[in-house]
Amino acid sequence: MSNDSKSMRVNKAIFPVAGLGTRFLPATKAQPKEMLPVVDKPLIQYAVEEAYAAGVREMIFVTGRHKRPIEDHFDMTFELEVALEQAGKQELLEVVRSVKPDDMECIYVRQAQALGLGHAVLCAQRLIGRDPFAVLLADDLMVGEKPILKQMVEQFDEWRASILAVQEVPAEHTRRYGIVAGTAVNDKMMDVTRIVEKPAPEVAPSRLGVAGRYILTPGVLDEIRNQPRGVGGEIQLTDGIAGLLRREKVFAYTYEGKRYDCGSKEGFLQANVELALAHPQLGPGFRDYLQGLKL
Ligand code: UTP
Repeated sequence: MSNDSKSMRVNKAIFPVAGLGTRFLPATKAQPKEMLPVVDKPLIQYAVEEAYAAGVREMIFVTGRHKRPIEDHFDMTFELEVALEQAGKQELLEVVRSVKPDDMECIYVRQAQALGLGHAVLCAQRLIGRDPFAVLLADDLMVGEKPILKQMVEQFDEWRASILAVQEVPAEHTRRYGIVAGTAVNDKMMDVTRIVEKPAPEVAPSRLGVAGRYILTPGVLDEIRNQPRGVGGEIQLTDGIAGLLRREKVFAYTYEGKRYDCGSKEGFLQANVELALAHPQLGPGFRDYLQGLKL
């Protein structure tokens, strides 16, 4: 990493939200999957709150067609706020206003064609400049006592290099992930020497799969630009990281917490049940309801 970046903190996050969401059809035919609510909040709000809690203030959304509701969600809703104020519904007014704190900036970049996650990240290159940045995939809903990205920012501050969030995945699922291999530096961190996108179990270099959270140094953007198309004909972020590995250190961090794959229907249902059970107001009643089902 350059000396410039060395003194930098992670203040920018990219939210690639231009994907087609085909695994969640028909729900995603005319609405973004990132706006699907888990309990009472859309997926994208969980991801933005996680970034904010990690100290990020510049939120960069890479959007596409049908993604206007995301822009509207983080905009001011004047009529709604006036109506709530006049009705004296102060608590709800706070809920609405807290979606976008005053010190948070939202910037939108368009990805005209969904050419892959690497391409989506590259669309934000001019906004990133020479700064390190986070990437959060909102359909991976991550829950930890300490927010997952905050854990990663702490690691970044210590190691001053790119950090990938990883978890152990079942052998039969390696085809769903970028898989890393390398040398352990402690019980949580691995110095990555290899990363492969969606390998078959027989050729996977390990069972450590990358979850949808990254902190990356800006050099990765040049690497993405120089990679040929990868798995599925897409411009892959994983291939850009593989290029970066040849020039810089990249670490894999085994995060403390849980991930729900809300891009899949099963993961989305699990997230709803578990987060509803953990919800301070809804939880107790919902638990009684589930127990009453006598499954
Ligand atoms: P996914 O692999 O989940 O792709 O992308 P997808 O198209 O959204 O969903 P499926 O597989 O068809 O159901 C991971 C993340 O990268 C974004 C998606 O919006 C999602 O948050 N993405 C992917 C883009 O922004 N642009 C792309 O070209 C591809």
